[in-house]
Amino acid sequence: MRTTASLLRLFLLLIISIILMEWVYETDQQWAMLTEPIYWIIIGTVMLFGMAFEICIEALRVILFKTLKPEQQASYLAKEVYRKENQFKWFRVTYLKMLGNDEDIEEKEIILDHDYDGIRELDNNLPPWWVYGFYASIIFAIVYMVRFEVLNDYNQKEEYEMAVAEAKIQVEEWKKTAKDLVDVNTVTLLTDASDLNSGKKIYETNCIACHKSDGGGGIGPNLTDEYWILGGGVQNVFRTLLEGGRAGKGMISWKSELKPLEMAQAASYVISLGGTTPAEPKAPEGEIWQDENTPK
Ligand code: HEC
Repeated sequence: MRTTASLLRLFLLLIISIILMEWVYETDQQWAMLTEPIYWIIIGTVMLFGMAFEICIEALRVILFKTLKPEQQASYLAKEVYRKENQFKWFRVTYLKMLGNDEDIEEKEIILDHDYDGIRELDNNLPPWWVYGFYASIIFAIVYMVRFEVLNDYNQKEEYEMAVAEAKIQVEEWKKTAKDLVDVNTVTLLTDASDLNSGKKIYETNCIACHKSDGGGGIGPNLTDEYWILGGGVQNVFRTLLEGGRAGKGMISWKSELKPLEMAQAASYVISLGGTTPAEPKAPEGEIWQDENTPK
């Protein structure tokens, strides 16, 4: 019993510490700290100290017990027995009360008169847990009625819209940290100065040999005009970088050279060159690219 109790205490400690940590550790993401190693280190330390403390206390009791005189020991043990018998008494009593068990009632006192083909019925009291549950549901219903039917707090459509708006914010947050996961379908035009700067660096390291530093074109086509061989817009440019140009033309796939995020940055930088006037523009190649959805 003592060990159960001490385990219970430790478990409580764990729960309380989790709640405290969640409260102290401020993030938008709930329970985010559960993924932090430092958190588990702290919890582990606390638990270890807790256990050590329990063991010390127990040892102290044993030592103190040994110093007692025999009759004192006997009275101590008697008290212990009494304590154990009464442990959780309140809980046990309440539990039984909630079940509504009343063993003193004789069946014949509460049996109902009617008899359906030998099937008879006892007029038992409803178990209190059931009755309280029933009352609780009535209160719930009233509150619900007033809140949603009278005061029109919000309806299902609004609730749905709120959830979607919230989810959209979360997706945006997630995208900020998950840029590296972009692919042809999810790539979007990056407009942050930092992304465009990275894009520029990537472009200057890898691309100017064929496209010139101002994008005017050389071996590769002019990237500043609105004519595109392989399609304009960030998605097509990203795909061109990912898969390369037409066979034998010289534009390789950059898949093994650049990470997805880097390709998205380079593609966004290429798009940002659109409309500028290079020193020696190469004649347009391909078709005029128009897409309302993809800004050029
Ligand atoms: C070895 C030369 C070479 C290098 C280096 C090169 N390209 Fe190209 N690029 C080309 C050629 C050639 C084409 C035309 C491909 C075709 O016709 O299919 C092209 C096509 C393109 C296109 C498509 C243009 C259109 O009109 O559809 C884009 C966008 C592009 N390159 C971007 C880049 C970027 C960004 C880099 C650097 C990461 C890069 N290229 C590096 C040669 C090169």
